[in-house]
Amino acid sequence: MIEQNKIPSVKLQSGELIPAIGLGTFGSDKYGEQAVSEAVYGAIRCGYRLIDCAAVYENEASIGAVLERLFEEKAVRRDELFITTKVWNDRHREVEDSLRQSLSDLRIGCADLFFVHWPFPNYHAPGCDGDSRSADSKPFSVDEFMDTWRQCEEMVDKGLTRYIGMSNMTIPKLEAVLPLCRIQPAALEMELHPSFQQKDLFDYAVSRGIRPVGFCPMGSPSRPERDKTAEDVADMELPSVAAAAKAHGVHPALICLKWAVQRGQIPIPFSVKPAQYESNLQAVTEDPLTEEEMAAITVDDRNCRLIKGQVFLWPGASDWHALWDEDGIIAR
Ligand SMILES: NC(=O)c1ccc[n+]([C@@H]2O[C@H](COP(=O)([O-])OP(=O)(O)OC[C@H]3O[C@@H](n4cnc5c(N)ncnc54)[C@H](OP(=O)(O)O)[C@@H]3O)[C@@H](O)[C@H]2O)c1
Repeated sequence: MIEQNKIPSVKLQSGELIPAIGLGTFGSDKYGEQAVSEAVYGAIRCGYRLIDCAAVYENEASIGAVLERLFEEKAVRRDELFITTKVWNDRHREVEDSLRQSLSDLRIGCADLFFVHWPFPNYHAPGCDGDSRSADSKPFSVDEFMDTWRQCEEMVDKGLTRYIGMSNMTIPKLEAVLPLCRIQPAALEMELHPSFQQKDLFDYAVSRGIRPVGFCPMGSPSRPERDKTAEDVADMELPSVAAAAKAHGVHPALICLKWAVQRGQIPIPFSVKPAQYESNLQAVTEDPLTEEEMAAITVDDRNCRLIKGQVFLWPGASDWHALWDEDGIIAR
């Protein structure tokens, strides 16, 4: 059990301090809901307080059962936890129903942070392969997104979530929607790891008081096969990460997490293995990277996006690069 006062925290724009690291709960195709929820139980007992959930991970009901168990055991109080959840792409027009379902599954009355998981309202089945396309896929629409965001804002008004956030966004999309938001996003969940640092988007979010939450913080070595390509870089084998791991005498995974927390993003590493999730949390409480090690990782960026999102492509779109507005304008 790691003492709470040793775990670093970060400030949201509201002034509230939240943990600088959390636990991911997407079991890929590898771990079922029982394994993931037992990990949530063990991780909270070991000191994690931020848990990153989502309706589409299909395990919120099991996680809810372990949360209830932890509350009954008085291991933790609800107000000591920071629980996120997300609306999936097929429910952008029924946000309240989606959030109420998540809250009921998680057995909590209010979420701490509720994300729009992806800015594309296209349905594709969980676990479908990368070539799968939905017939009604279409490019990003500011109007449709804002309709979803207005519903999210209402969720704050109704006391069903304390904060709202966006995920898998780009600077052009944020430029288009942020001026229209009555409630600004508290956080931006985005892919962040040493080989994919997204400096421009990261700086853009920070400069607007939006806290980056980094997914795949260790390069998601167990991600589903559909998300793997031959060009992908293994973060834990990057020279700067390997050198720091050797110098600190730890697994390269822990270097990725130290780097993330020292940079100011909130990593949400996933693991169902107690030795891994305990060492992941422990790593950010001790033996920080030096300025030189941080700088060496900064220059090792490979612009290697792992979660390319190709299932969201609309008819006529060139390839997955179109989803990420790489020309600086919203792709249509
Ligand atoms: N917003 C979004 O669209 C989005 C997208 C993707 C992910 N996410 C969130 O981000 C979370 C994290 O992403 P992720 O699970 O894809 O990637 P990740 O956290 O980078 O990688 C998780 C894997 O790394 C390995 N690992 C963990 N700790 C380790 C350690 N100490 N030493 C060695 N290996 C270790 C484990 O592999 P083994 O199990 O093989 O040991 C584990 O399954 C997800 O769970 C989810 O909550 C959000």
